Parts: sequence; structure tokens; C-alpha cells
Amino acid sequence: MAQNKKALFIIFGGTGDLAYRKLYPALYKLYKKNYLNENFAVIGTARREWSDPYYQEVVYDSIQEIKKSDEDAKEFASHFRYQSHNVNDTENYISLLKLADELDEEYDLEGNRVFYLSVSPSFFGTVSSHLRAENLITENGFNRLIIEKPFGSDFVNSDVLNNDILESFSEEQIYRIDHYLGKEMIQMLLALRFGNPLFKKIWNKDFVSNIQVTLAEDMGVEERGAYYEQSGALRDMVQNHVLQIVSFLYMDEPKSNDSNAIRKVKVEALRDLKIINKDNINHNFVRGQYSSSKDNLDILDYVSEHEVDPDSTVETFVAGKIESTHENWKGVPLYIRTGKRMKAKKTQIDIVFKNDATTFFPAQEVKENVLSIHIGPDEGLSLQLNNKKIGHAFEIEPIHLTYQPSADAPEDYERLILSALTGDKTNFVHWDELAESWKYIDSIREAWTNADSPLYLYEANTNGPKEANELLENDNNYWIWN
Ligand code: BG6
Repeated sequence: MAQNKKALFIIFGGTGDLAYRKLYPALYKLYKKNYLNENFAVIGTARREWSDPYYQEVVYDSIQEIKKSDEDAKEFASHFRYQSHNVNDTENYISLLKLADELDEEYDLEGNRVFYLSVSPSFFGTVSSHLRAENLITENGFNRLIIEKPFGSDFVNSDVLNNDILESFSEEQIYRIDHYLGKEMIQMLLALRFGNPLFKKIWNKDFVSNIQVTLAEDMGVEERGAYYEQSGALRDMVQNHVLQIVSFLYMDEPKSNDSNAIRKVKVEALRDLKIINKDNINHNFVRGQYSSSKDNLDILDYVSEHEVDPDSTVETFVAGKIESTHENWKGVPLYIRTGKRMKAKKTQIDIVFKNDATTFFPAQEVKENVLSIHIGPDEGLSLQLNNKKIGHAFEIEPIHLTYQPSADAPEDYERLILSALTGDKTNFVHWDELAESWKYIDSIREAWTNADSPLYLYEANTNGPKEANELLENDNNYWIWN
């Protein structure tokens, strides 16, 4: 039986797309599973002038597809209040405090507060210092600050942001979201790596030929042109999701299943990445931008998208060869690839094992063993093995052992919000990880500038420029998913 959690959520950015698409449905799922029941309340804030009934209607609307019954959805939405809020205005925090205290009393929340910042990072410091100054942080309960990415735009800027937040909240109270850490299959990666001697013993340079990480999207930048012009694929996907996956793939076995122990080995893995500079960038990283599609004339080039500069040189695709200086991984390339307007939505990790040529089975007859972890949209595992072909002759053929988890696995935001409620920081990004990942990303950006690296155009609905394939071909490798 799920244990009921008591808390008040104050969501900054309550009228936003993320809140509607992810947060309200995630809270509803926790409510349905009884992690939240009568002892929770939510205050949504944003600049717009919305009334409580209107806000509750929006919340009710956001859970239409998953609601158990109408009555249930309405009861859930009745826990929500709205306050129109200017993040710079002290008076607004004073009325927020009044409302928060009323709800605390009404729902018996014991002073537990989760402040959720789904706003521009330029407001992180202001909001957190007002929360402290206007006494929204309680003495009796827990106070946790969840922040959505982007956490700045480079190391220096994110360090400043972080220090601003640290004036009001301690690192222990800060929960930086990377929603990839809430995905079932990312968690499964740890179980696979450290729960099976079969993989544990061979997860190193002696047995692994190369690793491939693909985060492909078929969508373009949609309505987010203005944001994307500032971020590009490197900051939007590589700095966070890709490097988090890389740290899980490379890290040593943690001393225990405790968030500090896991963080320690993740930080070390990031620290061991071979730094990129202007001399090696063009052999290791490729940037691209989508152009229109020959087959689908409705698809715009990136530079024609809404709020995008017609002369923009922002990358919508990045492929790279990452290397680790760690003794276990020397010489094993880890290829990454992410982009918008690729062939399909596909997030996948492929571990390609070395092909072991013997006289019994010459190498050309056996395929590599490949462990593929399918993160989304379909979740699962597959393992490519060589097996005897049925029949009189002794021939071998590749087979695939597959596994698909049951459909009711918790979703990313649901898992992360519950972790924040229970105070489990394992699936949140610690400042040390963030600092290391920014330093690596900054080295790529600087090298691109210093080496005057080309921006390759690629046709929409393809898997990026051919130069991304050449990264692998130059090492006699090829993309497992293409
Ligand atoms: C977000 C990026 O962090 O991740 C988006 O800002 C991207 O641009 C999204 O579309 C991808 O997440 P998922 O879970 O759909 O793979």
C-alpha cells in the first residue's frame, strides 16, 4: 500500500506547457496510486490572470485521458489554487505566503513544501531569494526546490545561477530535474550493469568494441524556436540527457546503492572524459542543421521556423565520438548522436561487443553480440547472439533475445516527483555533475568556434549529415540503428 505523502506544491510556471503536459498528469498518477490523497494542495502561479475555477478546469482538462472517473478528476482538481504572480514583486510573495499557510491548515500539510521552478533560469535566483525573505520556507516541515533545465548556458553562467540559489536553499534541498533520470530503462541500465556478473565482467575495453547512444527525434523545433536559438542541440540534449547516460555507461560500480555513492562515480566518469580542443574537434564532433525534405514539402527548414533567425547557424544535430581516459575504457569509442527532424523518434543505447574470431567460427560468419537498450518510445532490451540455424547444416545466424517491461511502468515525471517527495536525490542532478558536464560542453563549443568547424545541412527525415556516419566508418564501425 502506497504511503500517503503530505505536501504543498507551489508551481512557478503553472500556466505553462510543461505543467499541463507533464506535471498535472504526474501528480494525478501519484494521487491515483495513493501517494497523494487528501493531504496535498497545489498553488499554480504565473503572470496571467486566472481564477481558481479556471485553473481547476485546466488541470481537469490535462488529465482527461488518464482519469479514472469524472468525479475522481474533479476531486483531484479541487486541491489546486491559482495566484497571478510577478516574480519580482514582494507583495505577491506576501499573498502567496498567506495562501500557502491557509492551505497548509486546510489540508493538514505539516509545513512540507515543494517549490517547483518551471520558469526561465534568469528567475531562479530572484524567486528563491524571495521565498526565503518572505518566509515561505517553513520551520516545521521539509522545503525542497525543484528546478527545471536549462541550468544556465555555460559553466560560468550556471555557477553564478547556482550560487544565487545557494543563498536561499542548501544543495541538499535542491532537486535539479533531468527527466531522463526518471525513465524506467535508464534505471534498468544500472540493474543490468551491476546485477549481472555476465555483464559486469565484460563491461570494459577488453570486451566492448564501441558504445552508441542515439537520441533521435522526428519533430522539428515546433513552437520553441526562440528558446532553441539560444540552446541548440548541444545545450538542449547533450549537456544533460546524453552526458547523464554517458556517465551511467562509463561509471565504476558505486560502493553502495546510495545517492552520494552513485553521484561520486558519475562525477568521476564525467571528469575522465577526454577534453575536446580545436585540434581534435573536427575528428570527433559533427554539427548539423536540418533543411527541408524532398518527400514532404510541408516540412520547413530550421531557418524558416517560427522565431528562428533566417541566417541562424544554430545546430539541430550533434554527433560525436566521446572517449574516456579511464583505464577500463581506453580506446573504446562512445558515439553519440542527437537531432531534430531525424527519421524517427528513437532513444537507444547499443553496446557492441568485440567480435571474437576463432578458427572454429571465423569472424565473418559471426555477428557482434550487441546489447540494445530501448529507452523510448518503445521500452525494452534486446541481445543479439549467434545461434545455430535450424536444419541439417551447421550454420550460424544471429538471433535476438528481447524483453519488454509491462506497460504500466511509472512515467519519468511521476517517478521524479515522488522521489522529491520522499527526499531521494539519486535521480536528480547534483551540482558537481552539472559543473563537469558544462565544462565538457564548453570545450566543444569553444573548439567549434576556434576551429571554425563546418555546420553541415541535412535533409529532414534522415539520420543527419553523412559526416556523422564517417565518424564511425573511420574506425571501421557503423551505426547499429540507422
Ligand atoms: C527536452 C528537450 O529536454 O527533451 C526537448 O528540451 C526534447 O527538445 C525532449 O524534445 C526529449 O525528451 P523525450 O523524453 O521525449 O526523449
